[in-house]
Amino acid sequence: MTAPTPIKKIVLPVAGLGTRFLPATKAIPKEMLPVVDRPLIQYAVEEALEAGIEDVILVTGRNKQVMEDHFDHAYELERILQERGKTTALEIARHMLLEEGRISYVRQMRPRGLGHAIWCARGMIGNAPFAVALPDDLIQGEPGALKQMVDLYNQVGGNIVATMQVPREDTSKYGVITPGKTKGKVIAVEGLVEKPHPEDAPSTQAVVGRYILQPEVMTYLASKTIGAGGEIQLTDAMAQQIGKQPFHALEFDGTRFDCGDKSGWLLANISIAMDDPKLRALLRDRITLS
Ligand code: G1P
Repeated sequence: MTAPTPIKKIVLPVAGLGTRFLPATKAIPKEMLPVVDRPLIQYAVEEALEAGIEDVILVTGRNKQVMEDHFDHAYELERILQERGKTTALEIARHMLLEEGRISYVRQMRPRGLGHAIWCARGMIGNAPFAVALPDDLIQGEPGALKQMVDLYNQVGGNIVATMQVPREDTSKYGVITPGKTKGKVIAVEGLVEKPHPEDAPSTQAVVGRYILQPEVMTYLASKTIGAGGEIQLTDAMAQQIGKQPFHALEFDGTRFDCGDKSGWLLANISIAMDDPKLRALLRDRITLS
């Protein structure tokens, strides 16, 4: 096999309304909710950079402008920190500045589903394979899930979805694969279905929000076919590529937190805090559960 085209771009759909996390998300985007000290969106961008991705495309919507500011200079703040000699804080404030031109924004003008959000980025993707990450799925892993997927992609090419085992009663919350030949954590994908009822689910291997996709997926998305929940589904578009292109699932190493609601977000905070010795000590001293 000739070496697959490297993955250099990522699409981060961030246009969602965050209804599961109201009222916190009434005036701020859910992607800006902090987990310990960083907003969710920053975790996704850091994971992408670790995987060797260079260009970040955010698919935004109304009331999401604050994310553009997060990835830009905050001149006033930087000047004050500089004047006061607060070098550590200054470094932190500048940490997430990508090289100019490496982050772009495109607007999804109507909430028509995840597939539609990805399709909105078609002009920026062009004819190259690309990654997708859903920032409210925070994945704690060493290396990150995207790096694990890119490493696999460099061997097998094609399309890759990150998956994990879920209880059967939860299949209706996820895209679910029909698994084929399995080698360790790598599973050949023979089918994909969005949010099946537990009794209809082809397996309990669920897709979490990390993808490596070939650009052909845009062709199906362009047809704007409506799928589960009355939305244009990425899962349906990906399913079209099965059999035509290599298609694998990677049962990644790591823990996924659904930060789109408060229970997942709370667990993510605790889990990430436990990695910091000071916060870990604090939690150990202060929290006693009966
Ligand atoms: C989306 C995808 C679904 C996937 C899930 C992972 O669903 O459509 O296939 O399993 O993300 O978080 P959503 O959670 O946006 O409804």
